Amino acid sequence: MTFYDQSKIETLISQETLQSRIKAMGTQITQDYLGQGDLVLVCVLKGSYLFLADLSRAIDLPLTVDFISVSSYGNDYESSGVVRMVHDLSHSIENKHVLIVEDIIDTGLTMSYLLANLQTRKPKSLKVVSLLHKPSKAKTQVQIDYLGFEIPDRFVIGYGLDFHNQFRNMPYIGVNLSGDIPLNPAYLSTKTE
Ligand code: IMP
Ligand code: MG
Repeated sequence: MTFYDQSKIETLISQETLQSRIKAMGTQITQDYLGQGDLVLVCVLKGSYLFLADLSRAIDLPLTVDFISVSSYGNDYESSGVVRMVHDLSHSIENKHVLIVEDIIDTGLTMSYLLANLQTRKPKSLKVVSLLHKPSKAKTQVQIDYLGFEIPDRFVIGYGLDFHNQFRNMPYIGVNLSGDIPLNPAYLSTKTE
């Protein structure tokens, strides 16, 4: 059994497909940054935490990781583009090669904000790696230097991506077919005190 209701979730990208693509992305990044100097992976919280964990282990280079959290006002399904910094990096990125690690680029507004913000801090280079991209939703053009998968315009959950802040720990990428929250009723709390 699982905490999510598998009958209400269509698998879009399986665990195996995710892992083999991420390994290949890590190999490519390793080749590109070999011998280039300090590399910092900037994880965009919260959605990218699993991708960062797997991608960083697929990169065979000395590197550091740092975390940034931004919030964009919007509804459950899409951001408004009004972005606010919630948690900033803990170290300077000046003169370092910076790779922003993002879970999904949808309208592109969050990434545009991040690129403009981080660029002012004088990194040696600034690039973007995103696990997913919904090209049909783009409101602004951002260059994605390394991309895992292009996906259709559907709301996806799992592998870090949330719905109502849950489902991040579902181990694959899926589409919620239920129109509601696809939890397994057997896992709902029945505690009465
Ligand atoms: P953008 O500014 O529209 O590109 O927004 C990107 C952010 O919106 C992502 O970092 C996610 O937090 C969220 N988002 C966009 N599409 C999805 C989705 O299909 N599932 C879950 N979160 C999404
Ligand atoms: Mg995100």
